[in-house]
Amino acid sequence: MAFKILALGDVVGECGTKFLTRPGFLSGIKREYGIDLTIANGENSAKGNGLTPDSADSLFDAGVDIITGGNHTWQKNQVYSMLDDDGRLVRPANFPGKAPGVGYTYADVNGVRVLVFNLSGNAFMLEPVASPYEWADKILENEAGKYDVSVLDFHAETTSEKIAMGWYLDGRVSAVFGTHTHVQTADGRVLPKGTGYITDIGMCGSMNGVLGVKTECILHKFTVHTPCRFEEATGDEHLHGAVFEIDSSTGKCISVETIRK
Ligand SMILES: [Fe+2]
Repeated sequence: MAFKILALGDVVGECGTKFLTRPGFLSGIKREYGIDLTIANGENSAKGNGLTPDSADSLFDAGVDIITGGNHTWQKNQVYSMLDDDGRLVRPANFPGKAPGVGYTYADVNGVRVLVFNLSGNAFMLEPVASPYEWADKILENEAGKYDVSVLDFHAETTSEKIAMGWYLDGRVSAVFGTHTHVQTADGRVLPKGTGYITDIGMCGSMNGVLGVKTECILHKFTVHTPCRFEEATGDEHLHGAVFEIDSSTGKCISVETIRK
């Protein structure tokens, strides 16, 4: 049976969250593509950055089933207990165990058991973390036999580290998508052993700035090299993501399609 997963790129700020959660918007896209499960990277869905219970709840209310994270997941401490208690939230598994939250979770969609896990890369990331490759192995070994479909949000900076992870997991995971760089890449494809892969699915937020931040701040940083408080960009909001069509009886990916709305 074909099972369709919609993965949404980093939801950036209050503006990205408001745009995505407008009544009928996400539900319309899910209907258009026949989506069974929706995953969004929400580590920056709160005003400014980070994740809050409010931003998470608005994404859930709009039709997101699972929220993944990254290096900014813990920016706002009011979400810590929700990270521990709400099974719809994951944060990178390869952060220290004392950090609130869990690195993988399950969704059961009409009897299809979906393992969703989240890892952080190391190259050019501010926080060095444990090997995402070893953590991927550990999770897949521990959970073997418990799922029909598996999906990884690999939150990493460099294209090479993400592509390497795609090859590492080819044939072992149904879909691997990259997040964090906020720019959708044009390399969505099914790898030879059946893993759907894309280096970055993009972002849900304003295209008026630089990766969702006001252009003036970023230009100041690059031209003057003194601090500038980041503010969200607004206007010309877009949704970027990818749809993975998966055969739920084999766990193999059939097709990968990028979307931009
Ligand atoms: Fe990030």
